[in-house]
Amino acid sequence: MVLPSVPALIDRLLRPLRNLRLSVTDRCNLRCSYCMPEEEYVWLPQPHILTFEEIARVVGIFSQLGVEKVRLTGGEPLLRRDLNTLVAMLALLPRIRELALTTNGVLLARHAAALRTAGLQRITVSLDTLDPRTFLQLSRRDDLHNVLAGIAAARTAGFVSIKLDTVMIAGVNDHELVRLVDFARSNGAEIRFIEYMDVGGATHWRKEMVVSRAQILSVLGHHFGPIRAVPRTDSAPAEQFLLPDGTVFGVIASVTQPFCSTCDRSRLTADGMWFRCLYAEHGTSLRELIRSSTDDAAIAAMISQTWQQRDDRGAELRAAMPDRQPLVAAAQLRSQPHLEMHTRGG
Ligand code: GTP
Ligand code: 5AD
Ligand code: SF4
Repeated sequence: MVLPSVPALIDRLLRPLRNLRLSVTDRCNLRCSYCMPEEEYVWLPQPHILTFEEIARVVGIFSQLGVEKVRLTGGEPLLRRDLNTLVAMLALLPRIRELALTTNGVLLARHAAALRTAGLQRITVSLDTLDPRTFLQLSRRDDLHNVLAGIAAARTAGFVSIKLDTVMIAGVNDHELVRLVDFARSNGAEIRFIEYMDVGGATHWRKEMVVSRAQILSVLGHHFGPIRAVPRTDSAPAEQFLLPDGTVFGVIASVTQPFCSTCDRSRLTADGMWFRCLYAEHGTSLRELIRSSTDDAAIAAMISQTWQQRDDRGAELRAAMPDRQPLVAAAQLRSQPHLEMHTRGG
């Protein structure tokens, strides 16, 4: 049973707290160049990783404060052992309307059916290329066949709303735009093209590597014919577009058209650090509170006060910079691993 919405907490820019992205592990089994380009990483200490009971308690508190949508991310979330047990625990929370997962798909074939049974509603799979060599070059692992098997297994398991996320990188996979749209269409999925972002972790980012929303629409329009924008109904980062044959695809233009003004999401890392913006340097650790004798009401009060103070709009501020460089250098990431994209959840 889903309970009616509670009035949302509003931040300083009048944005509600509705959406929580939960990173369940900072580990990943791929090394995508836009996210984890370095040789060595500093991992979160194992004793700091929240247990499923701790995660479910925090999500329960967030849901009392208006969060209705939870997305499990990583690192690669399927590396977290028994993830379907956590899914089943979260699926019991009466105020959560949407429980979703973002995965790289490598282990999905193995887990899709159990995730569905546990109550997961939606899956997004990262798919940057359909070429095994480009996959290897981009992710440093030879796993495209596993990802494709994972997408097929998700369909077989009965997931109806499968999305594919493609980070577009100039000269790497931008020649595959049309092919990727065709693949998504013939596999019953909706593809979203993401502008390459200068987030922490993207230490090799250069603005010349960004393929803009305008370029993406131009290439697809040239091939498929006139594209129409689908009117927006929510605060999701993706804008939806329609091809002449009715195929829907999305563009997430975080670099050229930031969507901070409607951003209703925050992120919890696997060790309980709460970030209110993808670009934020500082977060708030909830782990000590959870592991102390602090009760739920006091934790809720702290979360509520902190959200009401929120004025982050990282992507907009970055867009205003004349000479944009990577957000954080690799050396700094080694001393502040919470700034990594794979730690705070893609
Ligand atoms: P749905 O609307 O449920 O599909 O969720 P979503 O669009 O948030 O899905 P997903 O987790 O697949 O996010 C897609 C991509 O959008 C991420 O991988 C990021 O590249 C980007 N993104 C997600 N959240 C944020 C955010 O808070 N800020 C910015 N700038 N980009 C984001
Ligand atoms: N730019 C855009 N998206 C990114 N992701 C990770 N790093 C970046 C980046 N630099 C997102 C991608 C990927 C997900 C796990 O995180 O969507 O599929
Ligand atoms: Fe939200 Fe920050 Fe992303 Fe803007 S940059 S959309 S405020 S998370």
